[in-house]
Amino acid sequence: MAAVFETIIARRTVRAFGPEPVTSDHLTKLVEAARVAPSAANKQPLAYIGVNDPDLLPRIFDCLKWAAYIAPAGDPPPGQEPRGYIVVLKDKKVADETFFRYDVGAAVENMLLAAQEMGLASCWIASVNRPRVRDILDVPEDYDIDCVIALGKPAEHPVMVEMQGDDVRYWRDEAGVHHVPKRPLSKIFRLNSP
Ligand SMILES: Cc1cc2nc3c(=O)[nH]c(=O)nc-3n(C[C@H](O)[C@H](O)[C@H](O)COP(=O)(O)O)c2cc1C
Repeated sequence: MAAVFETIIARRTVRAFGPEPVTSDHLTKLVEAARVAPSAANKQPLAYIGVNDPDLLPRIFDCLKWAAYIAPAGDPPPGQEPRGYIVVLKDKKVADETFFRYDVGAAVENMLLAAQEMGLASCWIASVNRPRVRDILDVPEDYDIDCVIALGKPAEHPVMVEMQGDDVRYWRDEAGVHHVPKRPLSKIFRLNSP
């Protein structure tokens, strides 16, 4: 089992998935990781719907948009769509508007790292047709749909590269490998001195 830091460094957003199923046990364990995340004022305003029913998977897939900088090249190829989803919901009765987004960040990152450790790849998706997802999953009006996490065995292996200048856009090379630029440590971190 990898140490947490190695899991953090190894995780990349993946948008092509193998045929292996995402099991109900996987989904339950991921929500267990989200459930115990830090929460502002410990309000815990989030709820989750796991999806791995083969009839529902294509319907949720049709509600999602992928890799805007390179669209449509980042769309999962036919046959390599996600094999599971977790839909993250905000309980409007509980959520504090100022802080709930911090809670989403903490809970989702917990799930992405837990997935990585379980051998599952993920894509955190905010570009969601929320009315359609609400309709498909019969989400009650008390809940807002915040985002969707797409899951499956990785069928691509993106690489992380040092950002050149200020260009934040990821790209694909001639071999189709996805490159993700990250700002260098020297640009974003200062230790003690100005
Ligand atoms: C809040 C949030 C929303 C995102 N929404 C989408 C999305 O709608 N579609 C998509 O393909 N990727 C989405 N991503 C994934 C980012 O594109 C990805 O995290 C970024 O390119 C960095 O790559 P990395 O996760 O491999 O480090 C989202 C990421 C975050 C944090």
